[in-house]
Formats: sequence, structure tokens, C-alpha cells
Amino acid sequence: MHLLTLCELEREDVLSIIEDGLYFKKHRGREEPILAGKTIAMIFESPSTRTRISFDIAIRELGGHPLVLNAGETHLGKKESVKDTARVLSRYVHGVVARVKDHRVLEELAEYGSIPVINALSNLSHPCQILADLLTIYEYKGRFKGLKLSFLGDGNNICNSLMIGGALVGMDVYVATPRGYEPNGMFVKKSFEIIERYGEGSLTLTNDPIEAVEDADIVYTDVWISMSDKNKSLEEVMKVFPPYQVNEKLLSYAKDDVIVMHCLPANRGMEITDEVLDGEHSVVYDEAENRLHVQKAIFKYIYSRD
Ligand code: CP
Ligand code: NVA
Repeated sequence: MHLLTLCELEREDVLSIIEDGLYFKKHRGREEPILAGKTIAMIFESPSTRTRISFDIAIRELGGHPLVLNAGETHLGKKESVKDTARVLSRYVHGVVARVKDHRVLEELAEYGSIPVINALSNLSHPCQILADLLTIYEYKGRFKGLKLSFLGDGNNICNSLMIGGALVGMDVYVATPRGYEPNGMFVKKSFEIIERYGEGSLTLTNDPIEAVEDADIVYTDVWISMSDKNKSLEEVMKVFPPYQVNEKLLSYAKDDVIVMHCLPANRGMEITDEVLDGEHSVVYDEAENRLHVQKAIFKYIYSRD
């Protein structure tokens, strides 16, 4: 199986990945070598700190071998079609973790290869990040039902995946973006389908940051210009995004025990202030740590099904 968008998962799958992630966190150093004899190719078309390091360490700690392939080190998509690369990689390695600029590359790797493909971030989604975030929310709040999760800023890859993840666990998700920067329509549609399927949770799209943050249990933000945003200028962004900045004033509308999340890297002083990022409500370094534990749970989930 593949993990490209989170839409592949049912609620019980997400809950079991969270449970396993918590187990791996508690028992670090005592993992079963579930990747013994397996080599996992890690393709990175764009830079990464957390995803690359946490996957590399997770693979080693599960007894496998990571093979890092940085941009320009293979023929992928340039001198060779994605289809051929997928077929050839499938003869050598046992899985691919890939960070790509264009989500269609992941879909092609999955379609033409015969090994699991895991999305390490694309222009459209970042499923592994959101699984770690859900684990972090569970650690702090002990439940999902009835929680109001607000995402502020750009309707980007993180926002798309957060809507799906939130719907899968039944949270009430609010997304506040400037007009014209709403999340991807396909992910919005999928989120509503999931909400309907389980009869729990909700999704509200708004342009009003205060409506989103009012009484929120979780406030989440991300950069206003993503790696894949080739044509977005700072000038354009500064015209419309500042009201969505997560600062102490905006946060005062949330619940007293609100947690503040950011996938990192952050642009301090832009989408979030230093005071909030470094403040008592921030759980951003827990999110970063939990990437490691959740990557292990993702491998366990995928290879127990393959
Ligand atoms: N959050 C995240 O994916 O960070 P990196 O870009 O450092 O991997
Ligand atoms: N939206 C950001 C997330 C980085 C982890 C980006 O794509 O650059």
C-alpha cells in the first residue's frame, strides 16, 4: 500500500498508527527490527530537516537501510521518465519515501512501481506530518471528539492534510484564509465525505481569523509561502496575510489551555510571532520529535499490510 494523501486511511488505521507511535516513543531503543533486510530509498527534490532526519533514523532504528537520493542525484523526471525510475527502483529497494515538487510524481511512482510509496511532502499534501500532529494533539488533550482545531493562513499542503486528518478523527476543523488562498477543492470535498461517513466532526471555511480562533483548543499555522509556491511574491503576501498572523492578541480569543502548532520551519515574525512560538502554549518541538516515532508506526502499518 501507499501513503500519499491520508485519504487511503480509515479512522481505525489512524488511531492504530497513533497508538503504535506512542508505543515507539515509550520504548525507544527496544524496537522490533521490522525493517531488517529492507532498503528504503529516500528521494528529496527539495530541502528537509525534520522529515529527512526522522525517516533516516526511524529506518535505522527499525533495522533497515536508508538510501538518500537528493535532487540531481538520479535521472528521475529529467533524463528518465518517472515510470521507468519507478520500475527500476522496485527491482532494488523495498520502499520509497519521496518529497516532490509535483504531487503527480508520487502518483506515477505508486502506479508504475511495485513497492510502497510514502509522501514526504508534495505541493498538495504532507500526510506524515499530520499523523505526528494528531499524535501530539492526543498527547496533550487525550481525545479528539469535540475539539476545535483552527488552521490560519495559506490553504496549502499542510492545510489540505490537516483537514483530512481532522475529519478522520472527528474534530471540528476551522480554516481561515484570505480570499483566493482557500485549500484545494478536492481535499475539501474529501473532508466532507469523511465527516459524513463517520457522522462526526465538522469543517468550516472562513476568511475571518477571529471566528476561527474563538474558543479553539488547537491553533495551527504554517508559512505563507511554501516551497512549491514559485509565483507568490512577498509583496502580494504582505497585502493580505497579516491579519492571520498567530500573535498574542489573536490567541487571546482561544481557550486558556489552547495549544499552538506549526510544522516548522517557521518564518518568525510573519505567520507567527516569537512570543507565541516560544511561549507556554507552543508544542512545536513535540510535533517535531513525534515525527520520528510516527514514521516508525507508518512503516509498521505499511509493511504489516504489504
Ligand atoms: N515539517 C517538515 O516537514 O519539516 P522539514 O521541511 O524540515 O522536513
Ligand atoms: N507548507 C510548507 C511546509 C513545510 C514543511 C512547504 O510546503 O514549504
